[in-house]
This record gives sequence, C-alpha cells and structure tokens, in this order.
Amino acid sequence: MTYGKDPYKFFFEMREKYGNVFVFVLLGRRVTVALGTQGNNMVMGGKLSQVNAEEAYTNLTTPVFGEGVVYDVPNHVLMEQKRFVKIGLTTESFRAYVGMIEEEVELFLCTDSAFAAYKASGVDMWGSFDAYHAMSQLTILTASRTLQGNEVRGQMTKTFPQMYEDLDGGFTPLNLIAPNIPLPKNIRRNKAQKAITEFYMNILRTRRERPSEDTEYDMIAALKDQHYKDGRPVSDREIAHMMIALLMAGQHTSSAALSWCLLHIAHRQDVQDALYQEQVEHFPDSDGSLRSPTYEELKGLPILDSIIRETLRLHPPSHIIMRKVVSDLPVPCSLGNAPENRTFVIPKGNYVWAAPCVTQIDPSIWRKPMEWEPSRWTETGSLAAQLYRDYAETGEKVDYGFGMISKGTDSPYQPFGSGRHRCIGEQFAYVQLETILAMLVRKLEMKIDHVPPHNYHTLIISPQEPRSIRFRRRQ
Ligand code: HEM
Ligand SMILES: *[C@@H]1O[C@H](CO)[C@@H](O)[C@H](O)[C@H]1NC(C)=O
Ligand SMILES: *[C@@H]1O[C@H](CO)[C@@H](O)[C@H](O)[C@H]1NC(C)=O
Repeated sequence: MTYGKDPYKFFFEMREKYGNVFVFVLLGRRVTVALGTQGNNMVMGGKLSQVNAEEAYTNLTTPVFGEGVVYDVPNHVLMEQKRFVKIGLTTESFRAYVGMIEEEVELFLCTDSAFAAYKASGVDMWGSFDAYHAMSQLTILTASRTLQGNEVRGQMTKTFPQMYEDLDGGFTPLNLIAPNIPLPKNIRRNKAQKAITEFYMNILRTRRERPSEDTEYDMIAALKDQHYKDGRPVSDREIAHMMIALLMAGQHTSSAALSWCLLHIAHRQDVQDALYQEQVEHFPDSDGSLRSPTYEELKGLPILDSIIRETLRLHPPSHIIMRKVVSDLPVPCSLGNAPENRTFVIPKGNYVWAAPCVTQIDPSIWRKPMEWEPSRWTETGSLAAQLYRDYAETGEKVDYGFGMISKGTDSPYQPFGSGRHRCIGEQFAYVQLETILAMLVRKLEMKIDHVPPHNYHTLIISPQEPRSIRFRRRQ
C-alpha cells in the first residue's frame, strides 16, 4: 500500500532500513528492488539468460499492441523490430517534422476551446488551461501529423480519438497481473485493438495501390518494405501493431513530460523569461517577429534543452523498470548488503525492479536534488554537465541489434532507460518537446502559483489536479 501511495517515499524509507536491495510482496508476487547505480546496472545491463522483459510486460502490452510485436515475441525479434523503427527516425524526417509541429501548435491554439483568450488577439485577457489535458491533446495531434502519417491525422477529428481512448483504457496497472478479466473496459480495449489494426492495414493496402508523396516521412512508409534477417517480410498486421506500440509508447510519456515542463516554467518566471529571450536572440525576423526554427537550430539551444533534461530528472514518466528473473541471479557485492562472505541470490521466478527515479534525486549524487534547476546542466564542473558530456561524446558504445547506443547502464540519470531495452524514441520525443515548448513560449505568457505533486495512480506519473496554468497572449 505504501508503494502504491507514494513509490518515492517507499523506496527511500526501505533503503534507509534495509539498504539498496530488498524484497516486498506486491499482489502475491515477490519483487526484489535493486536501487542505486549498481541496481540500474544489474537490471538494465542484465543478461538475457537472467532477466527478461517480455514476461514482465506482455500482459499489459500484448492485448493493447496486438500479437507478434514487442513483448509478444522473443527478444531477438524485438531487437529487429527496433531496428526497423530506427530506420524511420532519420535526421531528414526530424527536419520535416519541426515545421509540421509548428503548424499544429498554431492550429491548436486557434481552435481549442481552452485557448479562447489566445484567439481574442490584441486584448489583454487571461485564460487558463489544464496542463496535462491540453498537452495530451496536442501531442496526439503532433504525433499523428508526423510519425503516424496523414491518414491518422485526417481521422483525428473523426473516429480515431474514441478508438484511441478505448485502447488506452487497457493500460492499467491491474492488467499487468490479470489482463483478461471480462470488464467492460477490457472488452472495449479488445474491440478498439481490432478496429485500429484494421484501420492501419487499410492504409497500407491503399498506399500500395496508390503511392503518394506526402507520406514519405512517416513511420508507415519506413516500415512498409522491411525484412527480417531470415528474409521474411514484415507483415501488414505486424506493421499495424508496431504503429500502435509507437503511439502508446510516445503518447503518455511525451505529454506528461511536456506538461511538467510547462508547469515548471509557469512557476519560474525567470526561467520562462530566459527561455523566451533565447528564442528572440536566435530567431529574429526582419519584421520584428520570430522566424521558424530548423531542426538543427532547435537542438543546440542550451536553455530549452536543459529545461527538458531537468524536468525528466525530477519527473521521469516511467518510475520503475521491471524484469522477470529467469535464472538465479547473484547480487553483486557492491550492491548487496549481505553479511560478510555471503552473497544474496535473487531466485528465479522473482521480479526485479530498478528505479532510476531514485538515483535521479539521490542527495549523495546531486546538489539540491529536489530543486528544479535547469542551469545545473550547463554549469561548468557540475555532475549534470559531466553526465551529459559522457553520454553525448565519450561514453562506451554497444550494439544490441538496433544500432550503436551509449551503454550507460550504471548511469544515475536514465529517463530513457539503457541497455537492450533502451528507448528508441528519445530523439523524436526531443524534437516534439523542443518544438512545442519553443512555440508555446513564443505565443504565451504563463503563470502558476505551485507546481502540483505527482499523481501515482496512473501508470505514467502525471501531475495531480488542479494543474491549471493561467496564460495570456504574449504581447
Ligand atoms: C519523454 C518521452 C519518453 C520517455 C521518458 C521514454 C522512456 C522509455 C524507457 C524508460 C524505456 C525503457 C523501458 C524498459 O527498459 O523497460 C523506453 C523504451 C522504449 N520506448 Fe520510450 N520513452 C519516451 C518516448 C518514446 C517515444 C516517442 C517512442 C516512439 C516513437 C518510444 C518508444 C520506445 C520503444 C520502442 C522502447 C523499447 C522497449 C523495449 O526495448 O523493451 N518512446 N522508453
Ligand atoms: C499475467 O497474467 C496471467 C493470467 O492471465 C497470470 O497468471 C500471470 O501471473 C500474469 N503475469 C504477471 C507478471 O503478473
Ligand atoms: C571471510 O573470508 C576471508 C577470506 O576468505 C576469511 O579470512 C574470513 O575469516 C571470512 N570471514 C568469515 C566471517 O567467515
């Protein structure tokens, strides 16, 4: 119960009492928690013969994504599927996405009812919007315009949102352990899964009959003609299921991250001003307005970048990483607190969790860990700046089958995970977050008195209500 109420509090209290490794029973399952950078390393750098992700996640994901993808297939197939997706996430597509996202933000502000005060241009009028709700709507629009493709974007004003909502209703913690209870929610989930799969398969059929140029940068185009190493082509059904997986993987993570960024900059006027000034300095147009940024220009902006980094440190959307232990797993001495000359072994059948959310605020690692302070990422000599450099330039690199990534399994900062299950959506998420934040701060002045606390009842940590940001059109 303590875990469910406040996982951070639970982890810190248990660590105080028992050290970095401890076991608790959650709904009849034995869960070994492994904290600290060594715990991150054990779980995320673990061998396939020892720890397994698909057994831990498949109950939740397979009924939502569909069969034959992600955690419904052996790990080597997932690695190939990640490679296919990576092929679609190119610099060229990111370049095209920035302009599309810019347009979507403008359209959203002009049409969404919460932003009526924005539309009433010229008038000094304050309005307010629910940060999480608004950002969920905006990110699904931008994701569908870019990755998901025109056909999905076209359905966003029609049938797609209801199907998405029903499918998303299947993403509940309960379904991790009991996925097939015939609750109305699960029945709707199954129906929506079939309908969305059909929808994507139709898109594929239509595109094969009538090739079109305005789809060249989306993910369906990238997945369409791929083959597994054994020569087998990726089937339309698998593509449909991968598209659902990408939609789900990106949606709550990005919209939660984005709403936390906005809540913090609405609270910290100094940071908001600095962020706006950064835009003014880099993108002046001849008529006094601000011009559109390019992908390369947005990527290099230190204030924008460190706002996102710092937000993901304090509010990582996934607070735990789960695996099932498939063969007895000895705990390294540096991690375990076993009595002298003995080692702990996590028995086969246990679940093992890493919690990088804990190392990301560990007071023995970070200065003023609970303060949202983006400047730590650019301060010379700070740990944060060091971590960023290691990761970008010098760190050890490995290839698990989907391209070179930095190893980083023992890093104290890993909002995107590490090792073979590392996120492949990070760069896309950054393009999306950077463009949306830049556009919003250009157009709006935002204010809030307090940053709301975490809501732990959702699978992805979201801001608790009330979470309304007051805004007016920037003069
Ligand atoms: C701020 C946004 C995001 C965050 C914080 C995030 C976080 C993560 C984390 C922590 C993992 C590792 C899970 C594990 O090891 O068990 C992961 C994996 C993954 N993410 Fe993301 N993600 C984000 C956005 C996205 C987006 C936009 C996409 C798709 C375009 C995506 C696709 C994936 C995929 C395919 C995996 C691999 C799963 C595996 O190999 O088991 N993510 N993500
Ligand atoms: C997944 O669901 C099955 C029942 O369908 C259950 O026996 C199993 O323990 C569940 N897995 C996890 C990780 O809880
Ligand atoms: C632990 O191992 C060392 C070296 O093998 C030995 O000298 C020591 O007596 C052992 N301690 C205990 C408590 O068994």
